[in-house]
Amino acid sequence: SRLPIIAIDGPAGAGKSTVARQVAQKLGLLYLDTGAMYRAITWLALQQGIDPQDQVAMAELMPTCQIQLSSLENDTESPNPWPTRVWVNQQEVTQAIRSEVVTKQVSAVAAQPIVRETLLKQQQQYGEKGGIVMEGRDIGTHVFPQAELKVFLTASVHERARRRQLDLKAQNQPPVDLEALERAIYERDRQDSSRQVAPLQKAPDAVEVQTDGLSIAAVIAKIVSLYQARL
Ligand code: C5P
Repeated sequence: SRLPIIAIDGPAGAGKSTVARQVAQKLGLLYLDTGAMYRAITWLALQQGIDPQDQVAMAELMPTCQIQLSSLENDTESPNPWPTRVWVNQQEVTQAIRSEVVTKQVSAVAAQPIVRETLLKQQQQYGEKGGIVMEGRDIGTHVFPQAELKVFLTASVHERARRRQLDLKAQNQPPVDLEALERAIYERDRQDSSRQVAPLQKAPDAVEVQTDGLSIAAVIAKIVSLYQARL
């Protein structure tokens, strides 16, 4: 037996990380951003000049990639620090894994069966005792199909691109054309939804939450109440 698990899946830029982290904080659960793990491996592959499509090279890379995440450390004072700090082989890559080149290549890496197999096992280990909010693309369908609550968080491509544009502005980044952001989001979703292994898909028993026009606070409240109704 284990404590409950909340699985939050959905397309790129739907606000999963923000929402999942705050839901975890409100309910006193751990939080795992599984996308950060795929990004970490992508960062290492690019750093070593490995082509993400090269299956043999990726298979050799996997056992040499040790990922650490701050949100999983058992720090009872602040169990869910933000942002999740990420290290690859002791080197901090918290910022680097959010770069445009990593974002562009990550779907190709995440499509490799060997990569998914390795990370699936690690994610299942992290969630073994439950008491966790896990966020990604295949949590409700593959990582924890027995999760007590599954949420499929979505928003229109336009809305997601608009939010991304606001994020970039808030971080004082140079302005990016809305249509370019829409294309990038659309393309990543297309790749993630069409891969052979564990594609992005709503689990049949997931509750779909469409967030266009909803505030972050409203989305969080909705998920917390869904969870409480199921306990
Ligand atoms: O959530 P985030 O946008 O950081 O995820 C980056 C990428 O990692 C996704 O576009 C997807 O290719 C991959 N991913 C995945 N399965 C997960 C989480 C992320 O394939 N559970």
